[in-house]
Amino acid sequence: MKRVSLTQYLVEEQRLHNSIPAELRLLIEVVARACKTISHAVSKGALGEVLGSAGSENIQGEVQKKLDVLSNEILLEANEWGGHLAAMASEEMETIHPIPNRYPKGEYMLLFDPLDGSSNIDVNVSIGTIFSVLKAPEGMKDPTEQDFLQPGSKQVAAGYAVYGPQTVLVLTTGDGVNCFTLDREMGSWVLTQRDMQIPVETKEYAINASNARHWYPPVKRYIDELQAGDTGPRGKNFNMRWIASMVADVHRILNRGGVFMYPADAREPDKPGKLRLMYEANPMAFLVEQAGGAATNGKQRIMDIQPTKLHERVAVFLGSKSEVERVTGYHAE
Ligand code: AHG
Ligand code: MN
Ligand code: MN
Ligand code: MN
Repeated sequence: MKRVSLTQYLVEEQRLHNSIPAELRLLIEVVARACKTISHAVSKGALGEVLGSAGSENIQGEVQKKLDVLSNEILLEANEWGGHLAAMASEEMETIHPIPNRYPKGEYMLLFDPLDGSSNIDVNVSIGTIFSVLKAPEGMKDPTEQDFLQPGSKQVAAGYAVYGPQTVLVLTTGDGVNCFTLDREMGSWVLTQRDMQIPVETKEYAINASNARHWYPPVKRYIDELQAGDTGPRGKNFNMRWIASMVADVHRILNRGGVFMYPADAREPDKPGKLRLMYEANPMAFLVEQAGGAATNGKQRIMDIQPTKLHERVAVFLGSKSEVERVTGYHAE
């Protein structure tokens, strides 16, 4: 089998479709390199002294794990000096991170969830990194937080890495979704799945069911119908999976279909869900749509939402199109 590396894929994509400018290609390669470094740290586990809590709290009010902090630092350091970025933003930083003046600045802005699935770090379950790329407003070398507040439809690239039994990188630049597997011996990303497509129909769903008592009626109705099985209104049996790492749940859905939900609920009526719009929901929505699926907040397309703040939260329904349309429809009734 002829092996296509990430670099070769990006160069050829540029040649064929003119869709990946050199600066964007460099950016993606640097992010991929940072993910390789994170993967290496993750795989060391206790031997690398990377497990456990860092003893600090992030802006989300979450206790930071050592790997949350380390992954954030790896991504910042890798991306600062390349000249392709104007600024960065992260789940683990209260405000944006401008590119230091000692380095040249570029036209892109990078957002990331450095380590997704923090609760799974210490128990050796798949975790990952999620990223999203936006363009800085024309000619803007020193973007402000305000400049980041663009709807997901403006993303020029998005992707995630999963640090699991294999380390994979799943990427879109708006021309389909491709998956690369890390060849650890060679240290290179090898194209292993072209043009991933989410099956339209599914029999699998993912939701944290421990919150069932707090769900609003449309979600309760939808899940009740799935759980009623082949004698219920859906006429078939559904299976459930919940990994508690969005990257791993989304990766399963990109491979074999399914629907992933993190709804808003009645616990905190003012909080529109748990997941973050800018660096979790938007990049995943971009990937899922590019693979033929759908992503909404129950009311509208996620990528149409105009963000009002960097760490904005959002309800998420994503995956197989028919299921996302159904549960979104229940919200309208
Ligand atoms: P993070 O680790 O980046 O803070 O994100 C965790 C998210 C997401 O990965 C996952 O789907 C969800 O939180 C799990 O939530 P529960 O703890 O409610 O299962
Ligand atoms: Mn977190
Ligand atoms: Mn996350
Ligand atoms: Mn995280």
